[in-house]
Amino acid sequence: MKFFVDTAETDQIAELNDLGMVDGVTTNPSLILKSGRDILEVTKEIAEMVEGPVSAEVVALKADEMIAEGRKLAKIAGNIAVKVPLTWDGLKACKVLSGEGNMVNVTLCFSANQALLAAKAGATFISPFIGRLDDINLDGMDLIADIRTIYDNYGFETQILAASIRSVNHAYQAAMIGADVMTAPPAVIKKMAEHPLTDAGLETFMADWAKTGQQIL
Ligand code: G3P
Repeated sequence: MKFFVDTAETDQIAELNDLGMVDGVTTNPSLILKSGRDILEVTKEIAEMVEGPVSAEVVALKADEMIAEGRKLAKIAGNIAVKVPLTWDGLKACKVLSGEGNMVNVTLCFSANQALLAAKAGATFISPFIGRLDDINLDGMDLIADIRTIYDNYGFETQILAASIRSVNHAYQAAMIGADVMTAPPAVIKKMAEHPLTDAGLETFMADWAKTGQQIL
């Protein structure tokens, strides 16, 4: 499973990138706002730090304007994935931008039918939003499983990018189902290293080690 980091905070991306945990980055207008940075500047900086795809989202609502914005974003670096919303206009923009050789991430996906359309429009990535479905008492993981089945039934190459990951359990379940990629906030990725039995075991080892009176260095 590939790990994308869902943030525009460059210091946090750098820390995970140094550990080999970053296969790509996703941003959106809310994350750009949170970073306080200029979209073109911060996207360029991230694209230089990370080898994998860096998603940058268009903000126009009409297909022709999305295409113009997408072309501008794609020019920032060779590893930009243009992010378009899953609307009819977004699908038109996806078809054109992917036809021009750009990576396209179709975002705000909440149904398997939407994911099917995105694959047919040539999306590189489809971003189903798990947490936001959970927020309205639906099961986001059911959507990941349905898309996996449909894409596998027909051999679509569009990668399932599990998004709106809010917990380590989301990450685990998405991996079990076979999402190609997950994008998660840095805090969720770091939390995946934690286990209470690891902490308890370490505490015992440290206490016993102190009793030996030995040192390694
Ligand atoms: O990748 C999409 C993600 O940023 C949305 O997450 O937590 O705002 O639903 P969230």
